[in-house]
Amino acid sequence: MATLVTLIPGDGIGPSICSATVRILEAAGADIQWDTQYAGMAGVARYGDPIPDETLDSIRRTRIALKGPLETPVGEGFRSINVALRKTFDLYANVRPAHTIVPGGRYEGIDLVLIRENTEGLYIGNEHYIRIGSDPRAAAESIALITRAGSERIVRYAFDHAVKHGRRKVTLVHKANILKYSQGLFLDVGRTVAQQYSSIEFQEVIVDAMAMSLVLNPERFDVIVTTNLFGDILSDEISGLVGGLGLAPGANIGLGGAIFEAVHGTAPDIAGKGVANPGAVILAACMMLEYMNDGERATRIRRALEKTIRDGRTVTRDLGGTASTDQFTDAVIAQL
Ligand code: NAI
Repeated sequence: MATLVTLIPGDGIGPSICSATVRILEAAGADIQWDTQYAGMAGVARYGDPIPDETLDSIRRTRIALKGPLETPVGEGFRSINVALRKTFDLYANVRPAHTIVPGGRYEGIDLVLIRENTEGLYIGNEHYIRIGSDPRAAAESIALITRAGSERIVRYAFDHAVKHGRRKVTLVHKANILKYSQGLFLDVGRTVAQQYSSIEFQEVIVDAMAMSLVLNPERFDVIVTTNLFGDILSDEISGLVGGLGLAPGANIGLGGAIFEAVHGTAPDIAGKGVANPGAVILAACMMLEYMNDGERATRIRRALEKTIRDGRTVTRDLGGTASTDQFTDAVIAQL
């Protein structure tokens, strides 16, 4: 029976790169029935809400979504899209893989995945100003909340991901030498969880050293797990190691559902021109197929995409070619 998946084409280049991806999944024979929904400016245009209840209800039913980039409307009164999705579906794991596709770049042989805790740490939004004398904003305080349960589920997710994908090592990134309580708790929990996975090597690295090691020897890392703020920064760093956001997919996974997307935005400068690179959404769809236990098809699509890119004859402008989104998509389909 076909799997029902919520499709949010999104704004800007979103609809064209999502329809390219749907075409490739169909050509690969994926048994998916799409429930198309709206969010971002498309949601505002239809329902007056960037994250309409209809869209949330659809994901509640399907528990799985493929999402194009969304434009966040400016102005008060609109709900934050990412916060609404994260809260509604408790999307605690942000998964960002990065691997070398085109040889001859600055680095060879990078194949790593960063798993960022998505719901705790410094990003819980517990902040306030502190008045001193007549200055109401003389100081500001932001609270970093780390819980044992939150740490345990993210580190366990990283180890389970390593086991499921045949990876060898999990590197836990922390700053427990300075933040002895919050980061110390994360590290303690990590060590305990690691003992339960004897087949996977466990490594601990302090975040500043990690930032340097990723630039010097990125090929030494495999699965990386870290808290929210560090994960935010390091996930962009690893995208940069393999040539930027154009081919960077991401997944937000939780107990209530899983949402797969490109890391890049709506690319307003090229929207409507038919030249956007659909690669990141295609790779996000491959992550989705793996999540749906259809890893073989994911591998087939990924190989076809990478072969098309390495071949270099029919690639989009951002990859140094002249092909349109449609021509590039046709070339990938021909490689399937
Ligand atoms: P952007 O990622 O949309 O664009 C940055 C640059 O990369 C532009 O030159 C763009 O043409 C290029 N680019 C991005 N994706 C591309 C693709 N698939 N193919 C070829 N070139 C591509 O970032 P920007 O300009 O900062 O943000 C634009 C809008 O996107 C904003 O409204 C922002 O809020 C939104 N955004 C949404 C995200 C999401 O929904 N996940 C993530 C990031 C930004």
